[in-house]
Amino acid sequence: MSKPTPAPQVIEHDGHAVIHGDAIAALEQLVPDKSVDLIFADPPYNIGKNFNGRMDRWPSDEAYMEWCRRWIDLCLAKLKDNGSFYLMTSTQNMPYFDLYVRSKAHILSRIIWSYDSSGVQAKRYYGSLYEPILFGVKDKDNYTFNADAIMVEARTGAKRKLIDYRKPVPTQYNTRKVPGNVWNIPRVRYRMEEYEEHPTQKPTALLERIVLASSNPGDIVLDPFSGTFTTAFVAKSLGRKSIGIEIDEEYMKIGLRRLGIRDEYNGEKLHRKPKTYEQPKESPQHLVLFEP
Ligand SMILES: C[S@@+](CC[C@H](N)C(=O)[O-])C[C@H]1O[C@@H](n2cnc3c(N)ncnc32)[C@H](O)[C@@H]1O
Repeated sequence: MSKPTPAPQVIEHDGHAVIHGDAIAALEQLVPDKSVDLIFADPPYNIGKNFNGRMDRWPSDEAYMEWCRRWIDLCLAKLKDNGSFYLMTSTQNMPYFDLYVRSKAHILSRIIWSYDSSGVQAKRYYGSLYEPILFGVKDKDNYTFNADAIMVEARTGAKRKLIDYRKPVPTQYNTRKVPGNVWNIPRVRYRMEEYEEHPTQKPTALLERIVLASSNPGDIVLDPFSGTFTTAFVAKSLGRKSIGIEIDEEYMKIGLRRLGIRDEYNGEKLHRKPKTYEQPKESPQHLVLFEP
């Protein structure tokens, strides 16, 4: 990553802290140990994305993992003993994450966030249409999981009001259930209300499920790689507190705006750029067909 790294700076308002700086430095310097209830970490994946001029590419898998191990250790240190974490990375790097994390904490679910795409992903192999998420806890006997808050319609049986005759007393299938570990949630597209200018913005629907299940109102939710601050935005809308860290100033400004912390930064008005179809049309040039 070529751009200079700013020393971490905090802008805080009403239980929400936006930190502009490097995740490792910010976690080390600004976040007390065992102070956070929930962490959602969606780092650069080492797949060559361009985050506003910072390239998402490490010299080797090992160099990437060495960096990841540092922030994963810090995240675990910052988590309360009953805290939970969700970690994302690319499909190819997730096996390294899995091996490392399960030597330090308890992995409870290996979630697949799956989505469709109208574009052609690949022609000579199977295109990638999912991203893996590890869900883990520090103490598998003491953690928050609000099952009732995230129930979904059970598809099999229930819809047709089938009876499950395998039960000791035949019973109708449940109509509601805790979601399984394959989550079909559309990616954020340009025409969606929540769209921001960022190459890997995560959908609010994904974070809503995570925040509802694994935290309670008033809890502290931390995202060390905030991007467009989806996590903090959702945390705020659900009455949680948030800490969001982001190294890029442009993305950090999205956070300030999305969280309603500032409408101006260093003299610049913070507003979402209008979509192409929202821009006021120029007044039509009337063709003068006939000279009067
Ligand atoms: C995969 S994106 C996160 C997207 C985010 N979940 C969202 O919904 O918008 C990773 C983010 O990490 C930021 N980043 C990269 N290196 C960083 C570092 N060392 N410290 C903090 N943020 C970093 C990038 O600028 C990028 O916005």
